Amino acid sequence: MYARLRPLLFRVDAEQAHRATLWLLEALSRVALGRRVIRQISGSPRTQTHVEVIGLSFPNRLGLAAGYDKDGRALRGLASLGFGHLEIGTITPLAQGGNPRPRLFRLVEEEALINRLGFPNAGGESVRDRLRARRTPGVVLGVNIGKGKETPLESAPGDYGRLLLALGPWADYVAINVSSPNTLGLRSLQGRVYLEGLLAELVTLRARLDRRLPMLVKLSPDLTEAGLDEAVDVIESAGVEGVIATNTTLAREGVESPLGSEAGGLSGKPLFRRALAAVERIVRRTQGRLPVIAVGGIRGGKEARAMREAGAALVQVYTGLVYRGPALVGEILEALG
Ligand SMILES: Cc1cc2nc3c(=O)[nH]c(=O)nc-3n(C[C@H](O)[C@H](O)[C@H](O)COP(=O)(O)O)c2cc1C
Repeated sequence: MYARLRPLLFRVDAEQAHRATLWLLEALSRVALGRRVIRQISGSPRTQTHVEVIGLSFPNRLGLAAGYDKDGRALRGLASLGFGHLEIGTITPLAQGGNPRPRLFRLVEEEALINRLGFPNAGGESVRDRLRARRTPGVVLGVNIGKGKETPLESAPGDYGRLLLALGPWADYVAINVSSPNTLGLRSLQGRVYLEGLLAELVTLRARLDRRLPMLVKLSPDLTEAGLDEAVDVIESAGVEGVIATNTTLAREGVESPLGSEAGGLSGKPLFRRALAAVERIVRRTQGRLPVIAVGGIRGGKEARAMREAGAALVQVYTGLVYRGPALVGEILEALG
């Protein structure tokens, strides 16, 4: 079915097609029959085996990566696809429009995307109100947070702290995004000095919440090996529960399309090797102590299994869903058993 829909979607501007897909999912999921249809199309099994990771019980090992449903507008529809967890965001304290369009490009031959969206989102307050009004039972909800475009790097902990306190009560876990390439300077927060300060502040702040809220740090695939080791050491010592590896890359390995020269982060098939290498290194460095959510170029059961074999506890997808459609969910769930 998606094979027939995809050419139509791909004729439309990538962002518009994305918005239409989310709208359709959410509209269908308003009624029980619609939710059944969505689940059938995705081929997700009815029975699930829960897994314990970062102190939470996940219905299965597959989640939706951040950026797909930034403002949490289609949670019920996305949950109906069979994901065990959904990560919304990146959310910034204030609403922002992101970079000028066009800012999302399909590299069809490469099964890849390049995006330089720059965190368009409805802002912390508006997303908090939406989450407060509507919970999605049966699925773990992650909220990915970042700093506002105009916030200087030195004041970044203030942005993350505000968001942690505002959105934490409505989230099952919080992902700290210090790795998007489209917000100037953001990735320098992965360096030891900034990261130690940021995580110490967030660990202190979360003690104010009335339950222990697990936190994960989302890392870039473009860190050097030494940079990755350093970040992982800081994360472990800070008492943060896990890492998400990886975000998009500025590298263009495996890209021949002229669109490769567009500025932004590359995701999808060409990212897989880099993301896998990062996961392997993190697991080795921490001897498996730090739970890893693997993301980057997973486009079928084979890649998902490779990430598991490398030691990842959970996996996430984004670009694979754009190219393979909802059946990807069933395929990966089956492969992960
Ligand atoms: C259009 C687009 C928007 C994204 N937005 C975010 C974001 O807001 N925050 C974030 O942490 N990651 C974001 N990502 C990165 C994804 O969550 C994921 O880490 C990356 O795309 C690699 O996975 P994939 O190859 O399965 O797409 C975005 C990716 C894409 C393609």
